[in-house]
Amino acid sequence: MTQSQPWWQKTAIYQIYPRSFMDASADGIGDLRGIISRLDYVKDLGFDCIWVSPIFRSPQKDFGYDVSDYFSVSPEYGNMSDADDLIAAAHSRGMRILFDLVLNHTSREHPWFKESCSSRTNPKRDWYIWQDGRGTRPPNNWKSLVGGSAWHYDGNTDQWYFASFLPFQPDLNFRNPEVSKAMFDVVRFWLDKGVDGFRLDIFHCIFKDERFRNNPFDFRYVPTKNLTAGFFQKWKYNLNRPENFELARDLRSLIDTYSPQRLLLGEVFGSDHAIKNYLGDRRDGLNLVFLWNLLPIKAEAGFLRDVIRHYEARYPEPFKPVYVLGNHDQKRFISKIGNDVSKAKLLALVQLTARGVPVTYYGEEIGMPDGDFSARIARDPLGKRYRWIPDFLVKRLGLYVNRDGCRTPMQWDNSPNGGFCPDSVIPWLPVDENTVSVNVAAQKPDENSLLNVYRRLLHLRQKTPAILEGTLELFDHSDVGDDLLAYRRNHVDETVLILINWGKNTVQFHHQTGCNHILLAIGMKRPVKLDPIAIPPDAGIILTRSN
Ligand code: NOJ
Repeated sequence: MTQSQPWWQKTAIYQIYPRSFMDASADGIGDLRGIISRLDYVKDLGFDCIWVSPIFRSPQKDFGYDVSDYFSVSPEYGNMSDADDLIAAAHSRGMRILFDLVLNHTSREHPWFKESCSSRTNPKRDWYIWQDGRGTRPPNNWKSLVGGSAWHYDGNTDQWYFASFLPFQPDLNFRNPEVSKAMFDVVRFWLDKGVDGFRLDIFHCIFKDERFRNNPFDFRYVPTKNLTAGFFQKWKYNLNRPENFELARDLRSLIDTYSPQRLLLGEVFGSDHAIKNYLGDRRDGLNLVFLWNLLPIKAEAGFLRDVIRHYEARYPEPFKPVYVLGNHDQKRFISKIGNDVSKAKLLALVQLTARGVPVTYYGEEIGMPDGDFSARIARDPLGKRYRWIPDFLVKRLGLYVNRDGCRTPMQWDNSPNGGFCPDSVIPWLPVDENTVSVNVAAQKPDENSLLNVYRRLLHLRQKTPAILEGTLELFDHSDVGDDLLAYRRNHVDETVLILINWGKNTVQFHHQTGCNHILLAIGMKRPVKLDPIAIPPDAGIILTRSN
């Protein structure tokens, strides 16, 4: 038996957007008590870790990604004792819990920023990034991640402050040792309270070039998928600076002083080379980073084979690729594949059996679709910023500028508000009308529902070392043809074979692996013959052999 891997290499993470998960206080906004009341659901599904999007005090202009106090809980979500109870409730169920930490910036309402703004000589002035303009122009050409100059003029002190994201989210100056000390104190505070780690918001933005050099020109306006360029510039001097990699190592050293082991899961964008740097040469950086190649999802064997091959080549053992199909910034994946539930089941099969850590966004497990909201009525600050772009153009360009669509309330049952809040209350975003049929209560009793496919897969995953810890061997296109995705997971005393047919015709496959025991089948009756095996369209099967 090989030595077992640490928990975070074998975990399956469920992302909760607190505002939208469950409203226990009946004010139309989800809250911590609501999450606690639904933890058994998440546990029963088979997830052993939850990541909760930001709950710290915030004016909620970007729904928590604009923190005004890192040491308290936003009142609409509850209070400190609710946070303590949530941590304890997760632990008492044998689950882990990650909080969401925004190190890069605060809210403009944070007392630090208010002080920083008050005068050029205030002791907190240097806690943020202030520069003189070039005449009436901003200090340099750096663009924010969401377009437009990242510099914002402050008439009071006649200088410009920097914001990587929206203007009300000023970036902290991590070159000031007082700032990094303050943020390390935040990390310690929550670790001492027992959280099992953090998802780190836009970690690739934290350090900027010390000399504030202009970014070079690039032909692309619409940002590239890995966000290395956009708005006519290459993001060379404001993203993925070497100091970020050092910060990753420093944070890792801190969390590694805690027992049991904690986890840092980074949100970073960039080239594979840059992303890999966050993990550290000696695996001494962030434990895990999200990988985004599945976001432009296609329910096709070729696409998935390419992503898996890429992850295997770039993030081989002992690294673990993190498989993401969606989150609170992305259009829901089922809406990208024509709301095809059969295909969603197969994508879950891939996500939960490939080598790596799956992160499932709340509602994916029941096939919640993306809400079709015009940016004109957006609650999302990004949607508000881009409300001038006509809806047809947004669709034609394939942009996703109003993130309200992926943040609609969780659909627990078929009542008008989906069981998220009482029907007499107006939820902060409307519940999708399809809650009439797409909801947890309806899918629970149906053995073949998407929900139960997730459940079966997660439970199988939990008890199958080859899926949790095994190596992955991908069958080549030349062996399996256009429509079949096939891979093997090998562990010391176990082999698991996964076969999925994405095509329109039945595929006959002679796999010669000796796997003749069915662990799970989706979209097919139990086959009579296992080798060669006939796999109908939209079907997948997991077979095993004990070595
Ligand atoms: C990335 C987060 O995922 C997103 O929701 C947020 O708006 C930005 N970072 C700014 O914090």
